[in-house]
Amino acid sequence: MSAQIIDGKAIAKAIREKTKAAAARLRRAPALAVVMVGENPASAVYVRNKVRACNEVGITSIEHRLPQDCTDERLLEVIKALNEDATVDGILVQLPLPEHMHAGLILETIDPNKDVDGFHIYNTGKLVTTGGGFKPCTPAGIIELLKAIDYPIEGKHAVILGRSNIVGKPLAMLMLQENATVTMTHSHTPNLKHYTLDADILVAAIGRAKYVKADMVKPGAVVIDVGTNRDENGKLCGDVDTQAVQEVAGWITPVPGGVGPMTIAMLMHNTLISAQKRQN
Ligand code: GUN
Repeated sequence: MSAQIIDGKAIAKAIREKTKAAAARLRRAPALAVVMVGENPASAVYVRNKVRACNEVGITSIEHRLPQDCTDERLLEVIKALNEDATVDGILVQLPLPEHMHAGLILETIDPNKDVDGFHIYNTGKLVTTGGGFKPCTPAGIIELLKAIDYPIEGKHAVILGRSNIVGKPLAMLMLQENATVTMTHSHTPNLKHYTLDADILVAAIGRAKYVKADMVKPGAVVIDVGTNRDENGKLCGDVDTQAVQEVAGWITPVPGGVGPMTIAMLMHNTLISAQKRQN
């Protein structure tokens, strides 16, 4: 058996096209402020891709680049000014921040109504309770991928590898909202295979190259690979040993071209939603 490939690139493109059409109907173009501190090369690539996506869908991007030795106070000033600027719909602070900075404090200063990354504790609280806040982009993108292939999430067993605030934890909440049965696993879970082999939906978000092997996957399962790592030859790869696992899985996301483009498409979507609310 060979798994069907979930084409995140095409699914993301369709979302961007819908976003573009809706953005064009607004009185003024949505605007997203993208704040980057320091010179982390991976972050620089992500920021470039986000700005490029904004240009493509008709969202105005406002870039703020601050030096590596930036203080919390300086960044807080920038965020407060963006909070007060009525022409700004979304504020994104690219993570990780330099070690000397306090990411929690920074994220909590962003106006929750402009928190298009969905990282503010107010939006986190909404995610856990009533819903209705901004949803973090990578987990929201994963749900969209499953919907795009018409996969019935309700009643399925979703097993998530990794408990980060950006992916694992919020994804568990979104899966629960879709009526999946959710198991969270992580680096301290003994006998991981016991759980992964029972997964109808297996999400790998642990940041270890090719960690998920074929003997960890139930035949026919949907395997979602959130990883972006380099293999021993420096080639981009995910958290899943794709070549081997695709012989067992029913569906699989590639790296690149799976979850990555969805994260950016959902960021565009969240920025549109914010602009729509502000203009109504
Ligand atoms: N760093 C890794 N992923 C993300 C993301 O989705 N948003 C931000 N702001 N930083 C990140």
